[in-house]
This record gives sequence, structure tokens and C-alpha cells, in this order.
Amino acid sequence: MSFNLKDIISIRDFSKSDVEYILDLAEEMEPIAKSEKVSHVKDGKLLGVMFYEPSTRTRLSFETAMKRLGGDVVGFNQKQGTSVQKGEVLYDTAQIVSQYADAIVLRHDMEGAARFISDNVDVPVINAGDGAGQHPSQTLLDLYTIKRTFGGLKNKKIAIVGDLKYGRTVHSLVYALAMFNCEIIFISPEQLQMPSEILDDLKRLKCKFTIKSSFIDNIEDVDVIYMTRIQKERFPDPKEYLKVKGQYTLTKNNMINTDAILMHPLPRVDEINFDVDSLDNAMYFKQAFYGVPVRMALLDSII
Ligand code: CP
Repeated sequence: MSFNLKDIISIRDFSKSDVEYILDLAEEMEPIAKSEKVSHVKDGKLLGVMFYEPSTRTRLSFETAMKRLGGDVVGFNQKQGTSVQKGEVLYDTAQIVSQYADAIVLRHDMEGAARFISDNVDVPVINAGDGAGQHPSQTLLDLYTIKRTFGGLKNKKIAIVGDLKYGRTVHSLVYALAMFNCEIIFISPEQLQMPSEILDDLKRLKCKFTIKSSFIDNIEDVDVIYMTRIQKERFPDPKEYLKVKGQYTLTKNNMINTDAILMHPLPRVDEINFDVDSLDNAMYFKQAFYGVPVRMALLDSII
């Protein structure tokens, strides 16, 4: 098997064998991610991180991944303190970082930003989230979590719950689930349903899905419950956010009748009660750890 992508922009650019290649390599990376082995494969290499939006997991796990491989990191995690404040445009900032670093990881609020930059710089670019667009490295770690739990990905039944309109993690994830013949139950308030163009794509891909708005009665018979946060920052009108805020909250009691694993890309706000954390099937912190070996596999493949 080989991996042929130069940039990691959208999960839709991946073939099934590209996905399988990264997931297999991530498994080899796990001992390094856990500090059980030391790697020098990226000695002397630099990763440029450009984060125009807040992040905990994505930025820190990319930085951890690069350092665990022997490389180092330069970059910024907010516009403040950079020449963006003097009016420098994304194109110019990316040109500069590409002069210093061997690859760029970009998070930006504008959908399409990572594709635009990858078309205009000579180093590989990884999309770490572009507005409500895509978040491909999150999708790969989500798949890795499912694969590590069940031993495979095929034919799983997955309930995806919450903000399906603005959530980029789920906009990425569904295309990958379609590749592996998974069945999806979309559960959201009516105002936050999955965009119709994505549903049309899923129909073309012959992915089996249903759309629901009631929550607890639709999560009993699934392999995975994938909760998401309502993306407050993407609502054009704050009053619209208040109408949907807190509609779905999962408690330990709600999990009594299901063996499903519970995933969440995090951060959580009020979707999962803290009493759920002690359950064996609460996977979200482990899922966040899996971001390290998966991002090591990506960095190893493109740098
Ligand atoms: N899942 C995720 O993208 O988290 P961060 O926003 O903290 O990077």
C-alpha cells in the first residue's frame, strides 16, 4: 500500500486505501505516541502551525506528533502578535511560513482557506479546520477510534447528534463512513440538519441514512453515538443559537440501555454530563489521544 496525497485538505480527496494506509501506520506510531519508543524520523524538520481560530486538541496533538517524531514546530495560535494585525493577508503569511517550515497546518474560519493555500505554496498543507467546511485529520482519528474499538470499520451503525449544519467534523466524517458502508442516523434540531448538498452526496454514494429529531429513543440500537457541540460561533444571529442551545444532553442514565461507544470531537459544552465520563464506553478522551498517532502518520506520510 502507498499514500499519494501531497496535501490533506478534504477527506473526499482520500481513496479508501489512503485511509487504510494512514490508519495502519497510526497503529505502528502508537508506541512512539505513548513514549514507549523514541523516533528520529523527522529530525531537523519543522512544522509551521497557523491557527487563526482557537484550538486545544488539534494544535497540541499536531505539535506533540511532530515533536515525538523528532521534529520541531514554529507558528502562532492567534492573530494577535502576528503581522495579520498590521493587515497582512493569509496568502502572504502562508508564503512566509512556507519559507521557514517543511509543512503547514492551517486552521481558519474561511471555508476553502486550506485549499487556497495548498494551491499557492510549495510545501504540503494540512487543513486543521476551515470554517464549517472540513476537518480531515479529525475524521481519521475518529475512524481510528472506531477501528481500534471494534477491530474494523465496515457496516457500523452510527448516530451523529447535535449541530450537523455547522459542524465541520461531521461534514468530513460522513464521507468516510460512506466509504465503509456504515449506516448513519442524523439526530439534530430541525434548524441544524445536515446540509442538503451533503445528503445528496450520500445518496449518490449509496450511503444508508435516516434523519431524526428525537434523541434518546434513537441511540439504543447503534454501535457508536457521536455527539457534537452546537457551534455558537458560526450562528449569524445569537438569538437563533439560544433557541437550540442545550437541546440534547446525554446523562449516565441515558446510557443504561445501550452498548454503543460514545464519541465526541470535543470541546464539550453541555452535551455530555460529567457523570458519563466514568463509563467504559465513554471514548472521547481516548479519542483525543488517538489524534497523536494519527497525526504522526499524516506528518510522516507528507513530509
Ligand atoms: N476536535 C477539535 O478540533 O478540537 P480543537 O478545536 O480543540 O482543536
